[in-house]
Formats: sequence, structure tokens, C-alpha cells
Amino acid sequence: MAGKIEPLPGTGDIWYPEIREWHLLEEAARTVLPRYGYTELRTPIFERTEVFVRGIGDDTEVVQKEMYTFEDRGGRSLTLRPEGTASVMRAIANAGLNQGEEKRVFYMGPMFRGERPAAGRRRQFHQVGVEAVGRCAPGVDAECIAMLMDYLQAVGIRHGCLLLNSRGLPEDRVAVNEAMVNHFRPHAAEMCEDCRRRVATNVWRILDCKQESCQAIINAAPPVLSLLGESSRSFFTQVCEMLDALGIEYEICPRLVRGLDYYAHTVFEVTHEGLGAQDAIAGGGRYLVNLPGLSAPLAGVGYAVGMERLLMARASEGAQPPVDSGVDAYVIGLGDAALVAGAVLARDLRTEGFSVLASQESRSMKAQMRAANRCGARLALIRGDQELEQGVVMIKDLRASEQTSVPLTEAVQTVRRMLM
Ligand code: HAM
Repeated sequence: MAGKIEPLPGTGDIWYPEIREWHLLEEAARTVLPRYGYTELRTPIFERTEVFVRGIGDDTEVVQKEMYTFEDRGGRSLTLRPEGTASVMRAIANAGLNQGEEKRVFYMGPMFRGERPAAGRRRQFHQVGVEAVGRCAPGVDAECIAMLMDYLQAVGIRHGCLLLNSRGLPEDRVAVNEAMVNHFRPHAAEMCEDCRRRVATNVWRILDCKQESCQAIINAAPPVLSLLGESSRSFFTQVCEMLDALGIEYEICPRLVRGLDYYAHTVFEVTHEGLGAQDAIAGGGRYLVNLPGLSAPLAGVGYAVGMERLLMARASEGAQPPVDSGVDAYVIGLGDAALVAGAVLARDLRTEGFSVLASQESRSMKAQMRAANRCGARLALIRGDQELEQGVVMIKDLRASEQTSVPLTEAVQTVRRMLM
């Protein structure tokens, strides 16, 4: 069609009937997450840029290459949120967190990253995320992962694969970095351009590289877990033991590093075989987040699920969209007075919980019946001048092609009975 204005690449409209599946994902979040003591937090879509730069880490790809940053009219640098954790930390820090206190929040909504669009990679995408802040115990991490698995089950995902690793404490990093640099530096010439650079800048990210030329060298690297200090290893073991006790299956994945810098201790992802190259439906871990104006980082654990990818995973598992309850009744009015009376009847029925459409134009019976059938209504409620005079309404079952005339005062209960 000429003059069509498409949404920008990597963005899109979410409309009926697809929206029904989005509601399913959102309703499942509102059911499952509060069972674990999480309450919903809605943060602004945009924030001061420094919240993300400090919170996520200026060394990350998200901050360096992917943020939608702009100056407002007052000359402030603002950014569309690329993820939820940094904003949630800002909100929690503002609310104040007393010593020993824990805050548990969940959130959902759009996030923005200027990535190259591909299957499962969008510029505006949506996450359901959670953060538990203030308590640092392996049990909190395991419980958080258990909640993620409950959520995935609630939305019909059966074939997710939980991958687990640890990034250890910041104090372990020097030894890990040194061991990894010692391993990778002699092979730098054989590796891809990005990894050659990463040997000097961010050696952990090499573990994440998908380039064929790097795979053998990465596979031969010492596993991060073996390089961590005793307390980090013990923390990780306790997380695993708790997951075992909860009957949650996982795979320890020595190459799992995650792209955001704030992680310390447990990191995890859930991948799904029904997706292509972008196969992570969820990712998270334990973290220490720095914020402008805070002297100490905030400690917490959380994850975010990518909703678009979740829908793709559901589709690949053959999950059915939720059943559409549809339109219960269509009110037909023959003549101006009947149209007005029809509007009143439709409103009464809606108040009783029925989904009702009412004709607003004085058209022929045939045209109005066609409209009733087109919208999939179960019943047609018909009145003309004669029915108005007699105080009755004709109710027609559009599937059974039966009809009955009832007094207006009995219309609601007759509709209820006929829809049963
Ligand atoms: P993340 O791994 O960057 O983590 O994103 C989490 C999930 O969001 C991914 O597993 C993926 O499903 C989805 N996702 C990410 N980028 C895109 C994209 N461009 N298009 C479509 N889906 C995408 C975080 O965002 C962390 N804030 C998670 C977290 C919370 N860690 C601790 N607490």
C-alpha cells in the first residue's frame, strides 16, 4: 500500500491476536513472582545517562555501543533504559535500604539497545525482570533461579537449559585475569580481531566469542571456577547444593561470563533449542552495582527474561495461544429508538460482565446480522419498534440458529443461561 509508514527496524507493533500471548506472559509474572515475596516496581523509560554508565559499567558493549542517548532541551544527557537493573538500584537506593534489610522487586516493560536487528534481537524489546537486593546468601541466588524456572514453566516452556557459572568476587579477578591473559596472549595472532583486543581490554569476554577461529583456544582455557578463591568456590558450591535440593537441573558452563560488568559470584542463563543464534531466553546473576553518589555498591541478585524470545520459544514448543473468550453478544437495533435502547441494554450487559458490541447505525437487519457474525458473537439481541412497544427482546443463538423472545427484564438472565 502506498504511503505505509513501517515501524523502525528492530521495533514493532504488538496487536491482537498476538497481544493475548503477551498478556499471558504478564499475568504469569504477576502470579508467580509475588509468591516469592516480589512486588512490582515501574521505573521511568529514560534516566540520566550516568545511572546506566555507572550502574552497568562503561567497559561493556551495552554502554559503549548500544545505548540510545540524547540531550534534552536543558542540555542533560538522557538514555532510554537498555536494561532494568541499574534503574531498579537507583530507585532502591533513593528509598533507602537499612542494614540487613532486603527488597524484592519485579518489573516488566520495554528496553532499548541499538543492536543490529536479527531473529530474537530487537532494538526495542521487552523484559520481565526481578531483583532481590540487600542479602547476600547462596540460598537467595538458588531461590531466585527456582523462581525463574517456575515462571518459565507457568508460561509453557518445557525445554529450557539452565547454564550456571561463577564470576567470583572482585578480589578474585586479578588472579583470574592473569591466568587468562597468560593463556590467551601466546595465541593472540590466531584469534579474531575482537579477541586480540580483548586480551588487553576485557579478557573475560573472550570466553563468550562465537568465532570459529577462537573456539579451540577458548576450550583449552582454564575454567574460571578453578581459578577462584576459596570463599567464591564455596559460595558457588552452596548455590549448586541448594538447586540440587530443589530438584532443579542445571549444567555448569565454564564459558558463561554474561555481558554486563556488575556480576560477582553466580551467573546464569537459560537457553532454548528452539531459538537460533540468539538462544538465551533469560540471563542474570549476583551483582554489585555502583551508582553515582553512593559510596558502596548495592549487592543483589536477579535476572531478566526476554519476552520476544520467550514467545519464540513457546511457538517452537507448539504452545497454544490462550483461548479467546470472544464477543458474547451483538445488539441489533432497527430504527433510531431501538439503537438508543440497544446502547442502554449493551451497557447493562457489560456491567454484568459480558462482552458486548452494539450497532450504532441504522442499517438493515441483514447488514447488522452480518456484522454480528463477522465479530464472532454467540448471541444476537434484536429489537425494532414492535419489540420496544411490547417490552421484549429477541435473542438469537447464532451457532444453534434458535431464537426466543423474552421480556426485557429477563434479558440478562436469559443471556447468562444461553451462554452456559
Ligand atoms: P541481558 O542478558 O542483557 O541481562 O538480558 C536478559 C534477556 O533479555 C536476554 O537473555 C534476552 O532474552 C533478552 N534480550 C537482551 N537483549 C535483547 C535484544 N536486543 N532483543 C531481544 N531480547 C533481548 C540483563 O538485561 C540484566 N539486567 C539481567 C539481570 C537482572 N541481571 C541481574 N538482574
